[in-house]
Amino acid sequence: MTTNPSGLHAARARSFDSAAAQYAANRPSYPPALLDALEELTGRPLAGARVVDVGAGTGIATALLHARGAHVVAVEPGEGMALQFRRTLPGVPVLRGDGNALPLAGACADLITYAQSWHWTDPVRSVPEALRVLRPGGALALWWNTHAFDVPWIVEQSRRVERYFGVRAAGERPRERRAAFDPRRADPTGRLDFVRRRVRWSRRVPVDTHLANIGSHSIFLVHADRAPVFLAEERERLLAAFPDGTVEEVYDVELLLARTP
Ligand SMILES: C[S@@+](CC[C@H](N)C(=O)[O-])C[C@H]1O[C@@H](n2cnc3c(N)ncnc32)[C@H](O)[C@@H]1O
Repeated sequence: MTTNPSGLHAARARSFDSAAAQYAANRPSYPPALLDALEELTGRPLAGARVVDVGAGTGIATALLHARGAHVVAVEPGEGMALQFRRTLPGVPVLRGDGNALPLAGACADLITYAQSWHWTDPVRSVPEALRVLRPGGALALWWNTHAFDVPWIVEQSRRVERYFGVRAAGERPRERRAAFDPRRADPTGRLDFVRRRVRWSRRVPVDTHLANIGSHSIFLVHADRAPVFLAEERERLLAAFPDGTVEEVYDVELLLARTP
């Protein structure tokens, strides 16, 4: 296990390849209202738009953009995630590369999207890369499914994860959320003028789907030796709290969107 903070961050960024099938089967998607917000804030329909979806993973966000009629090219650094992407979306191109050095020509995209992946980039490099690849008047959209911290069982579970692993994902406490999704943190270069939206949604899933979902988070993947004990205890706890074996995961999608300056 890596212990220094930047080593741990890099290990977490790469961790998803070991769990690509689990990720594809259990991670939540994003609500239609998020895609509506993209269209509203960019002032154009996704249909026909040239979209680059970066850190596309297994293609969860790509599939939604594609279904709205966008011409999507995906970019994904991880071999395992890209392999799973090709299984899920064989008709959509996926390039190996990352947000710090996009494998694309300049001014080729109307919209660049990062669904839960911007925080793995170095914004000092990924901001200029996005601006290079966007056409004038194009837009960069970043979003994250974040836990709803007014739902008691979700707060309590987050605290247990935090205590067990001694670390937490950015913004997993209410008072830190504003800072974690602060536009100045997303773009320390100050070149982008972000607007923010929050979209609440939820899904009801079996406890085991929920556990496989949280088990595909990077903090669980880099602690693969210790994660099973936590997940087994969590299973008992959730089945006691929700005897019908179903939980309602509640999410706030935090969206940041900026047009090219
Ligand atoms: C939490 S997953 C999100 C996947 C997908 N966008 C989704 O919504 O499910 C994060 C993804 O970012 C990728 N990633 C890691 N480092 C990256 C970087 N520097 N630039 C772009 N993507 C990166 C990982 O390989 C992983 O597939």
